[in-house]
Amino acid sequence: MDRGDMSRNVRAIRHRAARWAVRAGRAASRRLGPRAEFGLERALLKRSWRHLEPARLQKYLVAGYQSPLINLQSILARHHLVNQIAGDRFKDLERSELEFAVARNRQMRAEQKRLGAKAGQRDKSAKEAFATVMADGGTIFMDRWRAELTGLTGNRISVLEPACGSANDYRYMAQCGLIDHLDYRGFDLTAANVSNAVDAFPGADFRLGDALDIDAADASFDWVVVHDLFEHLSPAACERAISEVCRVSRSGVLVSFFHMADIPDHIVTPLRSYYRNRLSLDRTREAFLTHCRSVDAIHISRFAADEFGLKRYYNSLAYTFIVQK
Ligand SMILES: C[S@@+](CC[C@H](N)C(=O)[O-])C[C@H]1O[C@@H](n2cnc3c(N)ncnc32)[C@H](O)[C@@H]1O
Repeated sequence: MDRGDMSRNVRAIRHRAARWAVRAGRAASRRLGPRAEFGLERALLKRSWRHLEPARLQKYLVAGYQSPLINLQSILARHHLVNQIAGDRFKDLERSELEFAVARNRQMRAEQKRLGAKAGQRDKSAKEAFATVMADGGTIFMDRWRAELTGLTGNRISVLEPACGSANDYRYMAQCGLIDHLDYRGFDLTAANVSNAVDAFPGADFRLGDALDIDAADASFDWVVVHDLFEHLSPAACERAISEVCRVSRSGVLVSFFHMADIPDHIVTPLRSYYRNRLSLDRTREAFLTHCRSVDAIHISRFAADEFGLKRYYNSLAYTFIVQK
């Protein structure tokens, strides 16, 4: 056995031991009750993001198909907030922006095909395709919205964004002028994300926080907006986070899911320090309905196909929930 084999074996043994320790810890904490269970989950969630460099977090989920400039879920979330402020007077602009995003999604796929992306390299080729397709910056709708929203007199609303990352969606809410109409607060469990967000937007309200125990009074925000969090939580923590976002919202909650399907039960996949579950549409809807009045579930690839003739959205498991309190 050479040195390389030996260090690979040592790494494998370490990983296996760590996995075993986490499994044993999870089982023990479950027996001790929710406080211990969520305490351990919080510590593991923190650990799972801690090793990522701030510079990497800064770019995480803002390029490729996930860029809020062309990601249909991010765009629908912004439109939803615009609607709360200004009613439906911008329907035409909303449709044009969605058409633009669908066109760029199509171009990305064509470019990836041209690059000859093989399975396993799809993320890399999506980034390359994004750079090509968005060579013009892709911000034309940021400018069009800014022109409409600057000086607009409408309702002002308060918005809370748990798991806000490094201001991933916020930076586009700011660029398009939407933020001027919001009393916004974002929080995240990962300190590096919060400091990235504060550095980029010193005047904004970004702080450390935990979606399992939100530091806010009941009904203290008009809307809560969450992108891509619930799949990473254990089923118990997911229920807890759902009850928390419903508790602190006055009007409702808008949630983007990246891994949901029309299946009878959640498919639970624990990883070393977090989860990557495939959520059941019905079970998740029921969880919201124990706290809220209605749930409008949008299957994004069906929406893109029906409304814009897009044959394949990049993620067939993406759903957006608009939950009314
Ligand atoms: C997949 S990323 C999504 C980031 C961002 N919302 C987006 O869609 O671009 C998940 C984020 O959730 C944060 N997170 C994980 N568990 C959390 C918790 N219990 N409370 C708050 N944030 C959490 C992580 O730090 C990370 O920023």
